[in-house]
Amino acid sequence: MKKIHVILLALCGACSAALIAADDDVQALSKEQLAKFDSGPTSVDVSAYPGALKDGYTLFRQKCSACHTLARPINCNFALPDEWSRYIKRMMHKPGSGISPGQAKKIYEFLAYDSSVRKKALYDEKYARADAATKADADARIGEILAAYAQK
Ligand code: HEC
Repeated sequence: MKKIHVILLALCGACSAALIAADDDVQALSKEQLAKFDSGPTSVDVSAYPGALKDGYTLFRQKCSACHTLARPINCNFALPDEWSRYIKRMMHKPGSGISPGQAKKIYEFLAYDSSVRKKALYDEKYARADAATKADADARIGEILAAYAQK
């Protein structure tokens, strides 16, 4: 009886140590990652992008560099359309963002398209891990953007 108790205590100790270490790791990683995003490339080569999406890029440069580096959204880990859609809405609703719903939509279209092309490896990796509904959503959203903007 006593022996089991000791083993359980030892297990709990190891377990909470692992939890604390994991938490530290997550925080250290995220700080490190933000610094990595901020120090990455500060522009996107849009020369081959459909014309209207180049306008979205101009808007993105103006609006998304007001509070942090433009490098942050350029190099961050968001890739799937739904991730961008949700995050841009959050940014739009921050006080003083100066981003209208129409502008947010154009920026979203640019970023979703950009991720599917420039961050293709990350996009494909996230897509492969997504559930069926998320996959269908991503396909539909990218399809809409291509149908609306693809160069003829
Ligand atoms: C009103 C200020 C403001 C504007 C404008 C703004 N951001 Fe942010 N952004 C923040 C703050 C503050 C953070 C830190 C995280 C948070 O508070 O959500 C952040 C963090 C981020 C991150 C890092 C999030 C992560 O976890 O990887 C990305 C990406 C980002 N913003 C993208 C954008 C994009 C895209 C736009 C333009 C649509 C934009 N931001 C406009 C304030 C702003």
